[in-house]
Amino acid sequence: MGSIRHRPVMVNEVLTALSPRPGGVYLDLTVGLGGHARRILEASAPTGRLLGIDRDTRALSLARETLSEFGSRATLAHARFSELERVLAEAGVEAVDGMLADLGVSSLQLDNPERGFSFQQPGPLDMRMDPDRDASLGERLRSIGLDELARALGQADVPGARRLAARILERARSGAAVTTRDLAELATAPRTGATHPATRMFLALRILVNAEVEELQALLRRLPWPLRPGARLAIISFQSLEDRAVKERLRELAGRCRCPADLPRCACGARARLRLVSRRALRPAADEVAANPRARSARLRVAECLAA
Ligand SMILES: C[S@@+](CC[C@H](N)C(=O)[O-])C[C@H]1O[C@@H](n2cnc3c(N)ncnc32)[C@H](O)[C@@H]1O
Repeated sequence: MGSIRHRPVMVNEVLTALSPRPGGVYLDLTVGLGGHARRILEASAPTGRLLGIDRDTRALSLARETLSEFGSRATLAHARFSELERVLAEAGVEAVDGMLADLGVSSLQLDNPERGFSFQQPGPLDMRMDPDRDASLGERLRSIGLDELARALGQADVPGARRLAARILERARSGAAVTTRDLAELATAPRTGATHPATRMFLALRILVNAEVEELQALLRRLPWPLRPGARLAIISFQSLEDRAVKERLRELAGRCRCPADLPRCACGARARLRLVSRRALRPAADEVAANPRARSARLRVAECLAA
C-alpha cells in the first residue's frame, strides 16, 4: 500500500454512533481506503459483516488489500449511491444494522496531482472520482453551457459566479494546454483567512463533475431504507451544501411538521421515521483536528431508524 494514507475522520464518534456488534450487517457507502470499515469489522468481530461500496476502483483495490484479513466478512463493490438497490440485491442483503457515509474525497484522490482535484500542484482537468465511467472536467468544459456552469458555481457560493464561468470557458476552450493551476489563477475573489480564492471554485467544479448533489439526493430520498428499525445512520459532511441537505432531510424524516405556522392542527401527515440522536451535528475534537487538519470541517449527523 506504500505511502498512501487516508486517516479516517471522527472514528470514535462513528463507532459510538453505530455500536457495531457481532452478527450485525453494516453498510459503508464510501469505503475509500477502508479506514472506517476496518474499525467497524474489528468492533463487530467475530461474525459482523460489512458491505462497502465506492465509485473509485483505485480506492477499492487498496481497501481490498486492507480488509483482506477479514475474509468473507467484508464484501466490496464498485458502485455509487444511486446504485445501492442493485448492490444490496446482489449481496442478498435486505436491511442493515448500521450505515455510514463519509462524504467527499479521500487523500488518495486529493493528494495525487494526476487526478486533477488540487490546484496546489499543476494537474490535468479531471476531478473524476470514477475515471472508468464519468466525463472529466476538461470534457465537461468543452460541452457545458455558460448558464449551467454559472449555476454550478453559484450553488457552491462562489463569488462572481457568472463572470468566473465565462472566464473558465474561455480559458478551457482556448486550444492551449490548461492545468488545474491555470484554472485556479482565474479565481480572483478576495482571500478570506487561510482560504485560497480558488477553493470554492474547485469544490463547485468537483461537485459538478461527480454529480455529487444528485448522488447525495438519491441516497437521502430513499431513507430510512435500507435501515432496519433500531439501526443507526451516520453521515459525515465536509461542506455546508451537503450538511444542509443532510440536516433538512433528517429533520423531515424525524417528523418535522411542514404545515404553515398558523394552521391549528397538522395537515401534512408528518410522521417520524427516524430519531435524531443529537439535534446538532457533532464536530471533531480539538486533538483530532490538531493531528489531522483535514478533519476540521467535518460534521457528523446521527439518526436512528424508528420504522422502515
Ligand atoms: C472521505 S472518503 C472516505 C474514506 C473512508 N471512510 C476511509 O476511512 O478510508 C470518500 C470516498 O467516498 C467515495 N464516494 C464519494 N461519493 C460517492 C458516491 N456517490 N458513491 C460511492 N462512493 C462515493 C469517494 O470515491 C471516496 O473514496
